[in-house]
Amino acid sequence: MNKAAKNILFLSVALALAGCGTSPSANEAGTAAQGNLVGAKIGGDFALTDQNGKTVRWADFKGKYRLVYFGYTYCPDVCPLDLTHIMAGYRLLERSDPAKAAKIQPIFITVDPQRDTPGVIKTYTAAFHPKLIGLTGTSEQIEAVKKAFVVVASKEGDQKATENYLVNHTRTPFLFGPDGEPIALVPIAEAGAKQDQAAQEVRDFLSQFVE
Ligand code: NI
Repeated sequence: MNKAAKNILFLSVALALAGCGTSPSANEAGTAAQGNLVGAKIGGDFALTDQNGKTVRWADFKGKYRLVYFGYTYCPDVCPLDLTHIMAGYRLLERSDPAKAAKIQPIFITVDPQRDTPGVIKTYTAAFHPKLIGLTGTSEQIEAVKKAFVVVASKEGDQKATENYLVNHTRTPFLFGPDGEPIALVPIAEAGAKQDQAAQEVRDFLSQFVE
């Protein structure tokens, strides 16, 4: 395992802390896929700002399944790859079972509020899927959300840097239920995986857990 990556054991689920700018190991990607988060204390209300500058609360998604991915738009490799696979899987579900897909709200939450302004996030999320919303906030708001969602993220190197820095963060795509309850970790593919196959796994996963 590279030095920028660590594993956290949480309720017997290995949540991979993948350093963006480094490749995740096969082991990290593989273990996260088995997670079942039923009963875990993850999530909780927040007030953040979406890609259009509008205030969004966790409670606003009452009645919807929530596909939540924490990352940052400047992430050079892991985040865009995961989001590509996850949203491709979501597209497959839209085709095979549109009623189920309509029950799911995909959500991207930044761990880099310093650079990820609503405008930056708007361009980013639009590249993956029109239904993907992107949330940011003040550093304090994001810190509180990270804590509630058991997400670990920290800037690499010079803490005062304002550009050209990487953020190590947990690679944790969560599926939550209609009452905001955690259900499971979304399967994420190993680096180098075939996109079709990775998308199929996500589709099958969503199809299995969304009623
Ligand atoms: Ni990333």
